Amino acid sequence: MNRSSGEFGSFLGTPATAPGPSGPAMLREFGQIRGNPLDYLERMWREHGDVVQFPIPRPPSYLVNDPDAVRLVLVDQARSFGKSTIQYRALSLVTGEGLLTSDGDVWRRQRRMVQPAFHHETLAQLTDHIERASAAVVSSWNQAGAGAVVDIDVAMMHATLEVVGHALFGSDLSGDAAALADATLDALDVVVARARVPVTPPAWVPSPANRRLNGANTVLDGAVRRMLADRRESPSLTHDMLDMLMSVRDEDGIGLSAEEIRNQMVTFIVAGHETVASALTWAFALLAAHPREQESLHAELVDVVRDEPLTIDDYSRLTRTRAVFDEALRLYPPAWLITRKAHAQTELGGRDVPAESLVILSPWLLHRHPALWRSPEEFRPSRFIDDDIDRSAFLPFGAGPRMCIGRDFAYVEGVLMLARLASRFEVSYPDGSGVPATDPLVTIRPAGGLRLRITRRG
Ligand code: HEM
Repeated sequence: MNRSSGEFGSFLGTPATAPGPSGPAMLREFGQIRGNPLDYLERMWREHGDVVQFPIPRPPSYLVNDPDAVRLVLVDQARSFGKSTIQYRALSLVTGEGLLTSDGDVWRRQRRMVQPAFHHETLAQLTDHIERASAAVVSSWNQAGAGAVVDIDVAMMHATLEVVGHALFGSDLSGDAAALADATLDALDVVVARARVPVTPPAWVPSPANRRLNGANTVLDGAVRRMLADRRESPSLTHDMLDMLMSVRDEDGIGLSAEEIRNQMVTFIVAGHETVASALTWAFALLAAHPREQESLHAELVDVVRDEPLTIDDYSRLTRTRAVFDEALRLYPPAWLITRKAHAQTELGGRDVPAESLVILSPWLLHRHPALWRSPEEFRPSRFIDDDIDRSAFLPFGAGPRMCIGRDFAYVEGVLMLARLASRFEVSYPDGSGVPATDPLVTIRPAGGLRLRITRRG
């Protein structure tokens, strides 16, 4: 039996202050929660409302999808909510105390120092890397032959790793740079696999997973040490993000330590690779399911995209392409889960939330809230062109002080790559199937990949 609003009872001494599933109901659904936690969160929101409490005593755990409460957590009272949650602690096994996982004064110093790496100059340089990675995809799809079926998810994962790798390390993507990227993804795999198992041994137990994680971290640390030593000996001429991390100083003239540089590089690979790949993959999945939208997009691309490399000026002319990318980010926000720990007792959506509670937010749910969006389930890119939306309800990059530092990077990359590929190829489902089911991992991925037929445009 589920708890309903009114009298909520308690779980092992922790008062229940909001509606939600009962302990036995949640236990029965354990398999489904592990299989697709996002489906489960959506069902709980639709059944119980905008604030749901799960029957977990420690920490008290709330799903919050009340628009004002989400704003309060991320923006208005951001300092009262920290990142010491199970989600970010797991990620920090890979990233260390980097920008994504740190808190308080450590985070504030890092953010100030790292911000310049994302300024306009970096974005203008980025277009070369994007064009090179897009050209490699075009060439491999051309080689696949007329009407071939390709896995878009695999292609996008590969292309976005190229882009973030080149932005970080300049032209040299072999040797230590490649080892660093591979070891980062390897370590991330272990962390994701651990999250799917109910009980994981502590990091010091030499289990196969922990050995793999430690091995990847050792490779990572070695690659970073050698790269820093090489750069100190012969500075690069490219002014990539690694140069910037090595030269930046705080107001006391102190630079980032080798460990801090390592943590930020790994953070950028983790945060900036799969997220953009996921957004692009879903954009193609949605376009293939909506041929009329695909043709409207193509009409813009015929005007803007030529054989010459796309530039930052072209980016500002790609209004419909950006709207398609935004609508994909709305329906399939790659970062589907944002968690915080409440530092003090507070009220969210009219419910008491005790200190130390886990607060779970999900852009996926907020982007489907019927009070905020007209026909939320429909793929309608023009809503972003007509400005028929409440921008504060659109949070694919989070909000407030912890908002994504790579937002502009992601837009330039996503929009230019989509423009280049969609100008050359039409996509369709080979077997009459439709948009695949979701597999929510670090980002939302298509279950079983995304196999689409690509047809070269004349
Ligand atoms: C479509 C692509 C992307 C999406 C959807 C996305 C989403 C997000 C979200 C939701 C957050 C906030 C998390 C929170 O509040 O707990 C975030 C933070 C962050 N993102 Fe992104 N991101 C994307 C691309 C990138 C790129 C390209 C980079 C870097 C190259 C990047 C680096 C970061 C970093 C470092 C943070 C932590 C910022 C801080 O706390 O100061 N992201 N991202």
